[in-house]
Amino acid sequence: MNDLTIGQAQRLTAPAPFALLSARKEDGGDNLMAVSWWTYLSNRPPMLGVCLSKKGLSGSLIERSGVFTLSVVGDSLKDAALQCGRCSGRDHDKAAEFGIPLEPAAAIEASLVSGSRVAYECRLTGSVEAGDHVFYLAEILLCHGDAEIPQLFAWDGYARLDTI
Ligand SMILES: Cc1cc2nc3c(=O)[nH]c(=O)nc-3n(C[C@H](O)[C@H](O)[C@H](O)COP(=O)(O)O)c2cc1C
Repeated sequence: MNDLTIGQAQRLTAPAPFALLSARKEDGGDNLMAVSWWTYLSNRPPMLGVCLSKKGLSGSLIERSGVFTLSVVGDSLKDAALQCGRCSGRDHDKAAEFGIPLEPAAAIEASLVSGSRVAYECRLTGSVEAGDHVFYLAEILLCHGDAEIPQLFAWDGYARLDTI
């Protein structure tokens, strides 16, 4: 084997899971962020975790509102979803700019990406500092889904999205 940088290792371990995280802004709008670093954490209660860079907007939105959604989006959003990982909600309305359809969540004040393979409604339960990221732990309040939607995964680090 060869010695690898962390970036090289991350590119080699593709495909990685992929989802769009939505959190509400103070003005009532929804901000979408591309997320590969998410994982299930518990079955009873159902929980998941997302690991977010301290540089982005989304972490602060989650901390303020205490809720977020995570939508495992389908291949029709291949290009639009990637764009959500290339700019910040500080100066973009990503759903409007990239034509991503949203619908209201049922249990929380947030939006889901319509037509997702799976979408989770989550309530923040804790957070752990992890170097340049923060790992947010959340209870899954509701899950929605459609098995007919082909799932997008992240390939080559954050470089591209595609189905398997
Ligand atoms: C495929 C892909 C996956 C990504 N996964 C993550 C992730 O898991 N955690 C993270 O902090 N940033 C991740 N990013 C980068 C963020 O989506 C990006 O920094 C975004 O601009 C943050 O948006 P915000 O400032 O509106 O929160 C990913 C980007 C792409 C393209």
